[in-house]
Amino acid sequence: MTGQVKRYLIVNGPNLNLLGTREPNIYGTTTLDQIETMVRRRAVELGCEAVCFQSNSEGAIIDFLQREAPASSGIVLNPASLTHSSYALYDCLRALGIPVVEVHLSNLHSRAESFRTLDVTASAAVGVIQGLGPRGYLMAMEYLVDRDE
Ligand code: DQA
Repeated sequence: MTGQVKRYLIVNGPNLNLLGTREPNIYGTTTLDQIETMVRRRAVELGCEAVCFQSNSEGAIIDFLQREAPASSGIVLNPASLTHSSYALYDCLRALGIPVVEVHLSNLHSRAESFRTLDVTASAAVGVIQGLGPRGYLMAMEYLVDRDE
């Protein structure tokens, strides 16, 4: 991809389309649209491109990643509830061959439900950012851009 603008995939899983109104005491009031706008703007400042995708379907996310990863330099992924259950997504991330940073708006370790501390996708990522709200997406993308330079 020499000479081309590097592209990074910003992928959000189930129910994150509801950000803004979904449990605002946990996830805040920023909408997914606002997060994606923020990330795209930062990408332009960094001289790269952010390609955003959200789906409530595990298969659609895996199809998107398989299709887009070959032309991309890294992935910022909030797998949402798939974090806790999806071996299919874990296998997919391992197969892609580009770095993944996993992001969670909330701190999984301070949530009420014990199932949230089980993270089956994390070990396929180079790192995990959690609990820092929307800023986590920016930090993840900045890290991926930095490590590419
Ligand atoms: C989340 C945390 C998950 O446990 C949950 O299922 C989500 C969002 C987060 O961003 O904090 O949907 O990934």
